[in-house]
Amino acid sequence: MTAAAIYPGSFDPMTRGHVSIIRSGLVAFDRIVVAVLRNPRKDALFTIEERVEMIREEFADTPGIEVDSFEGLLVDYCRLKNARVVLRGLRAVADFEYELQMANMNRHLEPTIETMFLMANDAYFYVSSNLVKEAARLGGDVSRLVPDSVASRLTKKLGR
Ligand code: PNS
Repeated sequence: MTAAAIYPGSFDPMTRGHVSIIRSGLVAFDRIVVAVLRNPRKDALFTIEERVEMIREEFADTPGIEVDSFEGLLVDYCRLKNARVVLRGLRAVADFEYELQMANMNRHLEPTIETMFLMANDAYFYVSSNLVKEAARLGGDVSRLVPDSVASRLTKKLGR
């Protein structure tokens, strides 16, 4: 059996920070399932299908990466996929509180599932999907912060 981890998130859209966490995660895990949360309440720019497609495009040539979407509790999805580890990236300290709360809630809900953190590459320490969207909406050049396929879709979507 291979060691699998779930890397969950909104990925609206995936940034190069996410990509770097996934590539680092492959050092420790044979298989990583990138799981896009289906959350109808969020004011999303990209549809779930678009987000899944962009992630698949980025990792098309990378063995060990599966891209999927999920709804409901993350721990239920981990059970479904037979995974015992949730992988999350940490950037600046601002992430810590939120991540600690989520990790503790998940541990409360399912004590056999562990959350493991990887430090984001310092080049992408301040990159977030929300700031990328905001800058792109206002005409800023974010092409170095997101994969190429995301950059071109942002341009198309925002009509620039
Ligand atoms: O990229 P994000 O938005 O920071 O990812 C958040 C995510 C998807 C990991 C989190 O919202 C999540 O796991 N949602 C599923 C619902 C759930 O399990 N909630 C209880 C644990 S906090």
